[in-house]
Amino acid sequence: MDSSGDDKPLLRYQVPLDDAPSLKAILAKGLPRVVNNLVTFDKGTHEHTRRIGRQGYAASYTMPIFHAGEFVGFLFFNSYETDVFSEDTLNNLDVYGHLIALMIINELSTLKVMGAALKTTSSITHLRDPETGSHLDRMSRYSRLIAESLAVKYDLDDAYIEYIFMFSPLHDIGKVSIPDSILLKPGPLSDEERAIMNTHARTGREMVDDIASNFGFDSIDDIDVLKNIAEYHHEAVNGSGYPSGKHHNEIPLEARIVAVADVFDALTSRRPYKDAWNNEKAFDMLKQLSGTKLDADCVDALIENKQKIELIQQQFKETIYG
Ligand code: C2E
Ligand code: SIN
Ligand code: SIN
Ligand code: SIN
Ligand code: FE
Ligand code: FE
Repeated sequence: MDSSGDDKPLLRYQVPLDDAPSLKAILAKGLPRVVNNLVTFDKGTHEHTRRIGRQGYAASYTMPIFHAGEFVGFLFFNSYETDVFSEDTLNNLDVYGHLIALMIINELSTLKVMGAALKTTSSITHLRDPETGSHLDRMSRYSRLIAESLAVKYDLDDAYIEYIFMFSPLHDIGKVSIPDSILLKPGPLSDEERAIMNTHARTGREMVDDIASNFGFDSIDDIDVLKNIAEYHHEAVNGSGYPSGKHHNEIPLEARIVAVADVFDALTSRRPYKDAWNNEKAFDMLKQLSGTKLDADCVDALIENKQKIELIQQQFKETIYG
């Protein structure tokens, strides 16, 4: 949420709390802070401080928000006039501050419950899936890398990128419905087995629909990001994919992103039916699939991040279990 005036809100902007000593001090004390004369903010080293000065704000009131003893965030009230934050004003602002805090906490706890439900579903699913936790850790980070690289061109906001990260590990939840004899088969699948395997996309979508309505998450618009990932991550841009044979932009962007991350990690991992490939060979395959099966922008976005990919691979190694 922001009311940044003429300036655009800060996008894709992060500063560790450790590097923001004045905020850290507010947090340590657990008390609001009033600055009634903001000349100091012009000299700040961080963009978030400098832009307060640039906007011409003269005074600022910062309220930390806590819920059940846990820090939630900061709420900022800025003013164009100096010395406006008198005791009366502060008492009034506190009322509004607490109302705003309640709204934020309410929304966050819905997301938290949703996250817990999804994580449980995901761990149950992966009891049987040969894909390991480290596959999910990697592919969710590859998905986020792609989304970050596409952010400017596709005008993606921070929340969308976070949803991609959060939801991409659930792309295969529909595989719970696939019998072990197919899921864990060491060799290639017959046509009949393949047809059964391909049902995991639609089944996944139905499971997400179910979870969303059972937990009352239907009202969360962005749950569509998850629904689309589960249903459409095997669509191909030339229409040869499944379950719907959608083309190009008919395939939701989140599904095109996850498809590239999923294929890249499948190629570079061992599966019951294949050995792990090295990165170069996998990149060559992605290039071959680019524009036919996989979205060309998404492939480019991944391939231009080779160093970050290697860091992710070092951090989340395959274990002897897969
Ligand atoms: P998965 O193992 O997670 O693979 C995800 C996707 O990565 C595959 O989707 C495919 O597009 C790509 N991929 C994986 N390995 C290769 C490969 O060696 N070459 C190429 N060109 N692409 C590869 P797809 O094909 O729709 O398969 C969906 C799921 O079906 C797979 O998920 C896996 O669980 C299962 N599956 C696919 N082929 C076989 C197979 O030959 N044997 C067995 N047992 N399962 C298979
Ligand atoms: C899971 O999704 O199966 C657990 C999370 C993880 O290991 O990445
Ligand atoms: C975006 O505008 O960031 C993508 C759409 C969405 O937020 O769901
Ligand atoms: C496709 O096979 O349809 C595209 C790549 C994938 O998601 O497996
Ligand atoms: Fe899949
Ligand atoms: Fe997968």
